[in-house]
Amino acid sequence: MQLIDGKAVSAAVKEEIAAEVQQLLAEGRKRPHLVAILVGHDGGSEAYVAGKVRDCADCGFKSTLIRFDDDVTEETLLAEVNRLNQDADVDGFIVQLPLPRHISEQKITEAIDYRKDVDGFHPVNVGRVSLGLPGFVSATPAGILELIKRYQIETAGKHVVVIGRSNIVGKPVANLLMQKGYPGNASVTVVHSYSNDIRAQCLSADIIICALGKPGFLTADMVREGVVVIDVGTTRVPANDTKSGFRLKGDVDFNGVAPKCSYITPVPGGVGLMTRVSLMQNTLLAGKKSLYP
Ligand code: GUN
Repeated sequence: MQLIDGKAVSAAVKEEIAAEVQQLLAEGRKRPHLVAILVGHDGGSEAYVAGKVRDCADCGFKSTLIRFDDDVTEETLLAEVNRLNQDADVDGFIVQLPLPRHISEQKITEAIDYRKDVDGFHPVNVGRVSLGLPGFVSATPAGILELIKRYQIETAGKHVVVIGRSNIVGKPVANLLMQKGYPGNASVTVVHSYSNDIRAQCLSADIIICALGKPGFLTADMVREGVVVIDVGTTRVPANDTKSGFRLKGDVDFNGVAPKCSYITPVPGGVGLMTRVSLMQNTLLAGKKSLYP
């Protein structure tokens, strides 16, 4: 069993990005600039955005955090999105989700100029990526693919089972792995809450991507020897032995499943760190105007 080390890979990717930023600056080009909009004071969102700002500093990007109170109107938020769309100094921006209930996340997402949509949530990017065209790939699927690449895990002809069908993980990662090329050319099955026999599907899988958000869901009896397991779960469970008062728990019963795996990602230290670094990769692409010249 080999542990897929998201910490090492994400650190290496960050260093590569930082080196490329130095190269850009040496060529007299602009320092990439990421803006994050944070509405309200949700603990999870605060922590995620703080992480993004730190990652920008590590990569040599400029970053700006724009805050609104949770009673901000949709109109005000849309106006800010439009302002950022037009600000030539801003290469990419994100609106941290979830938003308060009185604001339509869909409306905000669609208002973002897709050329600055480094989250890859805009329908133009989702559509282009699913067609196999250049576009911003959302961070978690991009991070999963990066791990598969860096560990040279074979995907051609393999049976991949994706557990969960969310718009930000399950659907795009299934789509990407069935596309032509590497990592791709896989036969992909997506299972979800209405699927009849998830265990039987998993038992025939070469690669399982677990992204349903149920701690410990995938157990040893559901996997065969030699399987590759990618755990996307990051549920916060209370803990009295950590500074924050919680710990992250994956969707995989790690202790039971890991001994049967050829490769497995830990939680924390796996996909989560790659998700963070993928946003930085997208910001670099945005700064270089690589996808949409
Ligand atoms: N909330 C949870 N994950 C994400 C993400 O990747 N992007 C944004 N904008 N909000 C999130």
